[in-house]
Amino acid sequence: MAAAEDSSGHWPRNVGILGLEIYFPRQYVSQEELESADGVSTGKYTIGLEQCKMGFCSDREDIQSICLTVVSTLFRRYGLSPNQVGRLEVGTETILDKSKSVKSVLMQLFAECGNHSVEGLDTTNACYGGTAAVFNSINWMESSSWDGRLAVVVAADIAVYAAGPARPTGGAGAVAMLIGPNAPLVFERGMRGTYMAHSYDFYKPNLSSEYPTVDGAKTLSCYLEALDKSYEDFCKKSKHALGEEFSLDKADFILFHSPFTKMVRKSLGRLLFNDIARFPEMLERQPELQSLVGRTLSDTVGDRTVEQLLVKSTTAMWNEKTELSTLTGRNIGNMYTASLYGCLASLLAQKPAGELKGRRLLMYSYGSGLAASMFSIQCRGAPDAAVTLDALCESLSALPKRLLSRERVTPEQYRAVMDLRQEKHHAAPYEPVTDVATLWPGTYYIESIDDMHRRVYSVHDKSGFKGEQGHVPNNLTVPNGH
Ligand code: ACO
Repeated sequence: MAAAEDSSGHWPRNVGILGLEIYFPRQYVSQEELESADGVSTGKYTIGLEQCKMGFCSDREDIQSICLTVVSTLFRRYGLSPNQVGRLEVGTETILDKSKSVKSVLMQLFAECGNHSVEGLDTTNACYGGTAAVFNSINWMESSSWDGRLAVVVAADIAVYAAGPARPTGGAGAVAMLIGPNAPLVFERGMRGTYMAHSYDFYKPNLSSEYPTVDGAKTLSCYLEALDKSYEDFCKKSKHALGEEFSLDKADFILFHSPFTKMVRKSLGRLLFNDIARFPEMLERQPELQSLVGRTLSDTVGDRTVEQLLVKSTTAMWNEKTELSTLTGRNIGNMYTASLYGCLASLLAQKPAGELKGRRLLMYSYGSGLAASMFSIQCRGAPDAAVTLDALCESLSALPKRLLSRERVTPEQYRAVMDLRQEKHHAAPYEPVTDVATLWPGTYYIESIDDMHRRVYSVHDKSGFKGEQGHVPNNLTVPNGH
């Protein structure tokens, strides 16, 4: 029996993430410099939001180019042939076309090897589309529809806001994930909680602009209420799967969708309050939280005093279970659908594989509008995995250095690029004007857009492929017949 199959010989075992690649723009603006350029009080973005740098794309890049970049890099990094992929899904809320999917554009990467048998399309709901795409791919692989090949999921967005308080919570980036059996990061069966509801907290009704319509305060309360509800659902379902109650001490690392780092810090505190609400006896061990006696989850959403108390109380937990995962969020900003998976990349890049083996990651995904899920991933240290955890972590180890090697631009230059993007959004015909030297070598960029809105992409400086350090060692075989 192959290691990837169950005892019936049909269904794949240990389905999860085999490989992960992250792309972010080469240029960023400093949040400290933005504070002074925007004329807000010192510390508002750097302490109030806990943001350090914000990545952004010029008119040379769009959602399709960043997806082309990240998927082609994933293929090269793993020495993967597009023939090995039977499903490709894109999660994004950066919409260029009301009909044609980003996935269809990515099929250019499959054309040369003649693989047109690739299921999956785009999924959209704010920052949640990437998670929906991951779930779709896992469900496909664990179903009778599976044809034995691997799946690729791309979560990518360009997050830009109109000038004002939301603008420093922008960002841009893409994460491509290789999904398959016998993985080092396994989605634990039955351990998934979901909460979906209707709300107008953040949405994009104006199709002629990249900017969303945002009710800032409402996004925060919706995020936290959905956190409570998805954790509640997760705990209920996990009890069935685990045979015992779930609480935060059963999670070794806790990762959140990260609109800005302060939100993540508050969310961890909020999860502790959820545990206390379920097990009030916990208060005996934490007398500093006595003032929470009689308070409920619903009457404390947005209560700054309660938030501060819980943040203080979870400092040690933050340092141990969450801090490392905030690297990309702090330094790139909100990548919307890619945000949570950037947190995953951050953790894998910085935590030695030996300290991850056998550990459980608790993951919270939130998309306005709204859709939210909490799920868990088990880090498997099996030496015969299709890609080992050591190889996966090693493949991401250059991430902190890559973040440091970006180019800083002034707030004025950043603002000029934002204005250009807004002015030229959907312009056709259009020849982008930004110098391609602002891109990393090996990046796809828009060469031109013709009068029928057809976009032509090229790759900047293909010698950049050499920097990808060969293939991640793997045992990714394609079953007979494919
Ligand atoms: N020094 C230190 N802290 C400061 C300073 C300062 N000089 N000035 C303000 N702050 C603190 C505030 O006290 C507040 O912290 P607190 O919430 O812990 O009390 C924080 O900075 C934010 O300041 P506010 O004035 O409350 O909020 P602001 O008007 O800056 O807006 C918001 C923040 C709502 C997040 C805005 O940036 C926004 O709308 N962003 C987009 C929506 C978003 O990201 N929502 C999150 C979930 S949905 C999603 O992912 C898209």
